Amino acid sequence: MNRFLIHFVLIACFVTTRGALLPTSIDVRLKSPWFCHDLDCPAFAIEDDKVARDMELRNYAAAQWVSTNVSDVKYDEAVRTGFWRLFQYISGTNEEDLKIEMTAPVKVQVVPGAGPYCKSQFKISFFVPIESQGSAPKPTDSAVYLDDAPAARFFVYSYPGFTYESKMLDKLNTALAALNTTDYKYDASYFFTAGYDSPFRLINRHNEVWIPAL
Ligand SMILES: *[C@@H]1O[C@H](CO)[C@@H](O)[C@H](O)[C@H]1NC(C)=O
Ligand SMILES: *[C@@H]1O[C@H](CO)[C@@H](O)[C@H](O)[C@H]1NC(C)=O
Repeated sequence: MNRFLIHFVLIACFVTTRGALLPTSIDVRLKSPWFCHDLDCPAFAIEDDKVARDMELRNYAAAQWVSTNVSDVKYDEAVRTGFWRLFQYISGTNEEDLKIEMTAPVKVQVVPGAGPYCKSQFKISFFVPIESQGSAPKPTDSAVYLDDAPAARFFVYSYPGFTYESKMLDKLNTALAALNTTDYKYDASYFFTAGYDSPFRLINRHNEVWIPAL
């Protein structure tokens, strides 16, 4: 009887864990979407795949990123500046002179400025490869830092092709307008963009805007 009960409890725990919406650790097998191609990318679970057209609600696991902040009027300019710093970091500008594999996506947190000519705050981030999660070398450029992102939920709007500031803002607006027609609540004070491809990939390109869920 006792043994039966223990068995039951174990199964119940297992089922609950498996059914939980939040992945608790980086698990390569959890999800490797097509748009990551052969690059490591962060794990997520889909909570609602039909929030709106081209938009799903994702639960991201906590993960380590390497980030740098840029203050600029222009998104494209800020991303170029940040990308270059992070590219130096993965090319060996770190305390172990270690070369680190490129991953996906290039994530950019945007905290919009007060007006169109005001500077916005951008945080550009690379995902730390799965095998280096938690053990990535310290950056030697003081503008670059290791960044532990907590588990979080985002409304993710996807679109193909090459992207740039005006197109991205247009997609963000489409996503926000669609979200406004649902009962979901979101944080409008910041958002993320995620780009999965190098400029050398000409087809099957994938881009996202992430709006924080409340
Ligand atoms: C980097 O920028 C983000 C977004 O604006 C901000 O939340 C964070 O505090 C900044 N971190 C540093 C180290 O400046
Ligand atoms: C969504 O709703 C908010 C709050 O009502 C509003 O401020 C915002 O302009 C709306 N956004 C779009 C793109 O319709």
